[in-house]
Amino acid sequence: MKNAALVIMAVFMMTAVSMAAAPSHKYVGAEVCAMCHRTPKSGEQFQKWQASKHSQAMKVLTSPEALKIAKEKGIKGSPDQAPECLQCHQTAYGVEASLIGPRFNKQDGVQCEACHGPGSDYMKMNIMKNEKEAVANGLVLVSVSDGSAEQLCERCHNKKSPTFKSFDFKSMWSQIAHPVPKQ
Ligand code: HEC
Ligand code: HEC
Ligand code: HEC
Ligand code: HEC
Repeated sequence: MKNAALVIMAVFMMTAVSMAAAPSHKYVGAEVCAMCHRTPKSGEQFQKWQASKHSQAMKVLTSPEALKIAKEKGIKGSPDQAPECLQCHQTAYGVEASLIGPRFNKQDGVQCEACHGPGSDYMKMNIMKNEKEAVANGLVLVSVSDGSAEQLCERCHNKKSPTFKSFDFKSMWSQIAHPVPKQ
């Protein structure tokens, strides 16, 4: 009797967890984040991202090097259509179409929301200004100081990447850092 109750409890809790984790926030695309994150006062995060290789991650899948890698792996068709490559080179790959906003561009590679979470609900000004609210609306907090940023990078910068050599967080982060300037 007691065991049955425990099993029911466990099933209930698992359902609750999976419901909480069920994604409902939409991916809006870097162009939409740019509305507020391109001014000097904000720290020009959009321009910094545009100048980084992350914005080119889809384009690079059409390079001769990419075609060579794909051929060696026996991938049929273009690597910029291959799941084996898109899982790291495209944002929101495999996410259902209803969760992709109208201005989201798949060709934009590794976008803001690949690291910060889908933004449709946290991007409103009053929510963005309040970190707690933003997190409740889908913002994924990542930080250099607690090591969560490094873990995030290593989801893609790892041995499963066909061109991987090594990953030095400090020097790699310095190439893409995009802080809000101190007032
Ligand atoms: C309507 C304007 C607006 C839009 C659109 C917007 N943001 Fe923001 N965002 C802000 C403001 C304002 C802040 C607070 C900045 C500060 O701390 O000075 C902020 C803060 C942030 C922070 C830091 C949050 C924290 O508390 O650590 C991140 C990360 C962020 N935005 C990412 C995004 C991403 C990704 C998008 C697109 C999905 C986006 N923002 C769209 C206005 C906006
Ligand atoms: C596990 C994630 C991951 C997968 C899967 C992946 N890549 Fe990448 N790719 C990366 C990362 C991270 C980089 C940048 C650093 C590096 O080379 O490791 C990169 C860089 C590249 C580059 C540029 C290399 C350079 O020297 O500038 C090419 C070309 C490339 N990948 C092709 C592919 C192709 C083709 C596939 C599919 C067969 C693929 N990648 C699958 C993560 C991945
Ligand atoms: C490759 C992952 C990655 C991408 C892509 C990325 N960010 Fe970030 N972003 C981070 C990390 C990690 C931090 C935390 C930095 C820290 O702890 O100092 C951060 C911090 C921020 C902050 C807060 C900065 C501060 O000083 O408080 C804002 C705002 C932000 N990002 C906006 C954006 C926007 C807008 C884009 C797209 C144009 C973007 N980010 C793209 C990883 C990323
Ligand atoms: C969703 C997958 C993904 C995540 C997460 C990610 N990256 Fe990348 N990164 C890539 C891909 C793919 C490329 C290659 C793009 C290209 O060559 O056009 C790349 C390239 C880079 C480059 C350019 C490397 C070069 O050879 O010039 C730097 C720097 C970089 N990433 C830093 C970071 C840092 C720091 C983090 C964590 C805060 C991070 N990345 C997280 C996928 C990712």
